[in-house]
Amino acid sequence: MSSTDTGRHAPTALIIGASRGLGHAMAAEFLDRGWDVIGTVRDTTARTPLHDLADRAGGRVAIEHLDINEPDHLPPLRKRLAERRLDLLLVSAGTTNNQETPIGSVPTADFVEVMVTNALSPMRVIEALEDLVSPTGLIGAMSSGQGSITNNTTGGREVYRGSKAALNMFMRGFAARQAGTRRAFVLLAPGWIRTALGGPDAPFTLDESVPLLVDVLLSRQGMPGLAYLDRSGQTVPW
Ligand SMILES: NC(=O)c1ccc[n+]([C@@H]2O[C@H](COP(=O)([O-])OP(=O)(O)OC[C@H]3O[C@@H](n4cnc5c(N)ncnc54)[C@H](OP(=O)(O)O)[C@@H]3O)[C@@H](O)[C@H]2O)c1
Repeated sequence: MSSTDTGRHAPTALIIGASRGLGHAMAAEFLDRGWDVIGTVRDTTARTPLHDLADRAGGRVAIEHLDINEPDHLPPLRKRLAERRLDLLLVSAGTTNNQETPIGSVPTADFVEVMVTNALSPMRVIEALEDLVSPTGLIGAMSSGQGSITNNTTGGREVYRGSKAALNMFMRGFAARQAGTRRAFVLLAPGWIRTALGGPDAPFTLDESVPLLVDVLLSRQGMPGLAYLDRSGQTVPW
């Protein structure tokens, strides 16, 4: 049963890449704050933490299927969601490669995999689903502080950095094409967080990070234009 079925009008968030990690934790946080959540998983056969969340959520979490690198998945997803009005669309799905390889030594297949997953596919998702988002809604993507060109004074993680800088550029183009609308656009730099991608040495936990990240997103609701923000809501230098 959804909030609509109960006569309750909760805001709705669609979180892409919610099977685990940050996407799953963001889904749980939005649910705790009274939102309905639609979360996507890539593998239709695996049971994920999102399934456990849905089981506890009394119909307020719906699970959809999407591999963001499969453009053919998007039109059927768009069709399945046609009756849903989204207040927030967040693409969290992302990947990395062997991060210490200098750029000139990165195998082409690794480069393509990271760039497509982190830069092209999120924008394909956003462009395919943006009309489901309310005219005053928010569209976000999980970028990274590593995507800042200004702050890259050390090198390292070069493909990953490039993919997030590309994502930032593509989001700027998308937001520029939507200039004059009332929508908010956010690129989040969540900080280095202990997940499968972040690894065990990351200084921050999901529990301490995710409420801050949701606060940052909610603070941008109703504020047209694009912002590139860290976990404190501070602008990250492009
Ligand atoms: N953790 C950090 O320190 C950190 C810092 C800055 C930015 N970020 C960004 O935050 C986002 C989430 O990262 P995380 O730390 O939560 O990583 P994670 O724990 O490794 O989770 C990655 C998520 O992305 C999904 N995903 C990967 N490729 C996908 C694809 N082709 N189609 C659909 N889903 C796909 C995974 O789904 P499966 O379960 O199917 O694999 C999983 O849900 C990423 O964009 C990452 O770059 C993370």
